[in-house]
Amino acid sequence: MTHRDLREQNRRSWNAVVGAHDSHRGDLAGFLRGGSSTLFPEERSLLGDLRGKSLVHLQCNSGADTLSLASLGATLTGVDISDEAISSARRLSRQTGIPADFVRADVYEWLATTAREGRRFDVAFSSYGVVCWLPDLESWAQGITAVLRSGGRFVLVDFHPMAQMFDEHWNLCGSYPSYGEPRLLAEGVGDYVGESGGGLTPAGFVEGVQDFENPERCHLCSWGLGEVVTAVAGAGLRILALEEYPYSNGERRFGGMRELPGRRMVPPEGVPVVPLMYGISAERS
Ligand SMILES: C[S@@+](CC[C@H](N)C(=O)[O-])C[C@H]1O[C@@H](n2cnc3c(N)ncnc32)[C@H](O)[C@@H]1O
Repeated sequence: MTHRDLREQNRRSWNAVVGAHDSHRGDLAGFLRGGSSTLFPEERSLLGDLRGKSLVHLQCNSGADTLSLASLGATLTGVDISDEAISSARRLSRQTGIPADFVRADVYEWLATTAREGRRFDVAFSSYGVVCWLPDLESWAQGITAVLRSGGRFVLVDFHPMAQMFDEHWNLCGSYPSYGEPRLLAEGVGDYVGESGGGLTPAGFVEGVQDFENPERCHLCSWGLGEVVTAVAGAGLRILALEEYPYSNGERRFGGMRELPGRRMVPPEGVPVVPLMYGISAERS
């Protein structure tokens, strides 16, 4: 299977699940319209002051974070491969009155086209479950560098590859991810929003779609943190910060996760500290 075919299959799997995810999100439009934000402190801190900046949000999904970023005073472009996610994001933009340009495109194709057209951004941002959909880190990172203006920044917040080494009961079950080896998930993208029972629905949790089954399988790519950092640095971006966080924002990925204020999920008592997320800030010279 070519990388392009793999990404197209992932698009179908995402298209199938977006409705189930959205069904749990409550009055997200009212939440955003009222000035609340779906962003977590980690990305806020790495992104810094966004007033007056142009920002591209890569793999933006249904756009709630994109619109939260726009509310901080930036001009937003959101890019996602899923037709359903982009339709949902455009609807949310209309319902909230918060402007953002949502583009349905494969991230690799969008980065290449945008660089060719000479468009440049102050900030590129991507977060929470994004690197696992990328079969080629080098061209992704090079594409990001190419759409940043000189002095522009790239911020990435994602789940830590260490987390993939444990099963839901915190038993070590796999090797540390590396080489981006595609892994077939026959059950496709799941309803992790429903399973997180409120962790990913700051506007309130709605039961919504029950027992979702995805008819479309997907392919995940397993990358180690060193490979991600090396790709970013190798693309000419200067690493300003690499943060590792011993908790997971929103997602209840493992059994017994305890929820701290701010939808911060931590392991149960007795589980040793392991990094569950990381954040990178890098600058184009
Ligand atoms: C877990 S979601 C990211 C969450 C998102 N940051 C948010 O604010 O909700 C992953 C997203 O990556 C998108 N995606 C996967 N492969 C892609 C690709 N090749 N190009 C663009 N988007 C892609 C999916 O459609 C999905 O919306």
